[in-house]
Amino acid sequence: CGIVGYVGHRDAAPMLLEGLQRLEYRGYDSAGVALVHRGRLKTHKAAVRVRELKEQVGKAPGVVGVAHTRWATHGEVTDVNAHPHTDTSGRFAVVHNGIVENSDELRAKLSAQGVTLVSETDTEALAHMIAASAEQHETLEDAVRAALRGVEGTYGLVVLDARRPAELVVARNGSPIVLGVGEGEMFIASDVAALVRHTQRVVYLEDGEIATVRAGDFETSGRAETVDLADEDYQLGEFPDFMRKEMAEQPEAVRRALRGRLDSRFATAHLGGLRLDPRDLRAVRRVKFLGCGTAYYAGQIGANLVEELARIPADAEPASEFRYRNPVVDPDTLYVAISQSGETLDTLAAVQELKRKGGKVIGAVNVVGSAVARECGSGVFLHAGPEVSVASTKAFTNMAVSFAMLALWLGRVRDLSAAHGTRLVSALQQLPDQIASILETDYEVAAVARKYAHASHMFFIGRVRGWPVAREGAQKLKEISYVHAEAYQAAELKHGPLALIDAQMPSVVVVPRDELLAKNIGTIEQIKARGGPVIAVTNADLPDGLADAVLRVPRNEPELDPVLLTIPLQMLAYHVASALGRDIDKPRNLAKSVTVE
Ligand code: G6P
Repeated sequence: CGIVGYVGHRDAAPMLLEGLQRLEYRGYDSAGVALVHRGRLKTHKAAVRVRELKEQVGKAPGVVGVAHTRWATHGEVTDVNAHPHTDTSGRFAVVHNGIVENSDELRAKLSAQGVTLVSETDTEALAHMIAASAEQHETLEDAVRAALRGVEGTYGLVVLDARRPAELVVARNGSPIVLGVGEGEMFIASDVAALVRHTQRVVYLEDGEIATVRAGDFETSGRAETVDLADEDYQLGEFPDFMRKEMAEQPEAVRRALRGRLDSRFATAHLGGLRLDPRDLRAVRRVKFLGCGTAYYAGQIGANLVEELARIPADAEPASEFRYRNPVVDPDTLYVAISQSGETLDTLAAVQELKRKGGKVIGAVNVVGSAVARECGSGVFLHAGPEVSVASTKAFTNMAVSFAMLALWLGRVRDLSAAHGTRLVSALQQLPDQIASILETDYEVAAVARKYAHASHMFFIGRVRGWPVAREGAQKLKEISYVHAEAYQAAELKHGPLALIDAQMPSVVVVPRDELLAKNIGTIEQIKARGGPVIAVTNADLPDGLADAVLRVPRNEPELDPVLLTIPLQMLAYHVASALGRDIDKPRNLAKSVTVE
């Protein structure tokens, strides 16, 4: 979800609404804004997109306000469940991200005290509790602090009191809150994306912190730092949507990820942010990648690369499974927490569990200053630039590229030869141009996508290097087109799923030109023999007529095939979604970062 707050001398409404638009990718079920004008609180909220809310709010007056865009957790998507939530007297407004775990208990207690709750949310309970607590405390900050004592769970919140229009109180526990420092005005948001238009000076609230923010002053334990983000990073420019823009940015993003990290002289890579020296690197006995969704699939590519290049056992696991299954934490394993946003709660919780048990964990994170980056303390920044589209593209690519560098580095302090290292260094340098050349095949990919867009189901098939590629391809298609897609390991197909193959079930088969080429050709033949259409994604020369459609990528070192083979699958998903008229940047039911369990 997204939070925005403003206290200053200008009209708050346009600022808040525009900030919300920047954050809409964090959740877009419903939106709302609360403003104080002449001592009265006025709230506008509905189960609509920010665009429509804007029309409803218009030029509502007030120089202080809070706003929210929601991704439902407690309670359905309805107007009353939208934030801000207010107390019965309509004096206090609260916007909140996170989940109050003892919400049922708190709501029951309030009902027993005679309070009528109008929504089904946990946040409304907070508004009533703060109102009650304000009766017993001098300052709003003290009232909020006392009210939050009874709250279990996570929150990033902003509280507005109609009787104190010169201030806002913010609190953070598990969900990010960042302050933007202006000239005689202050901005508040759950994500810097909402602030960079107004200021580059930001302060990240620490977990457990509660602070009062006024137009000209604030007090927090953290100091103001300057973020290196421009407003243009969040603008579409010539592109129809952010997914397309971010796919197009991949060559440049990969260049940034490689910059200063490759060492041709010693045929290796260096990732300074890991703070590991050769001795530490040699001490690593296992590598485990942890992440959610796309980040998890990138981790699988990472695990394959580490095993191939460094010959160290490696695997990937969804961070959520890891945190809940009481994992054995091994001191000789290097754990890698992967997250574009750095705010995914399951990934953050996995890191915290690892640290509690003495595990060595590094981050692979895109957003500098994010929770996972800070919790890990060391790691590799992805340098993909801000990613807005819910479906991750350039961050995924930069994850895979970063893991190739990590694997190369780990390999070169073990028995990977200098000759092999040299080949990989130059192969990595070729990636940006090769990705650009794949993006130029857009027209062909679009034609294939249109041909198969009306399938109800699709298989994505791959083996070994192609397996995480198939999984990510299926994920992309599901996320943005809502076409049911299932990824399967090529050889497993015959142990069950082959029964589903018929003329209505296209299969996208990932075919790298490696030692398994003949096996993959065999898989395609098995599918064809059952009448299934095949779309091959490949850098090999396949026999004529074998596949019904072929999406080609250039050749490179085979270890890097997964990076290149994923690009046409992003494009395929994009064009299927676009042929079906989907809202590409805002797929139904999803949000860019999931900061709840
Ligand atoms: C959400 C998004 C996915 C993303 C996943 C992990 O589920 O919808 O696209 O892959 O979170 O996000 P992260 O920011 O941790 O990489």
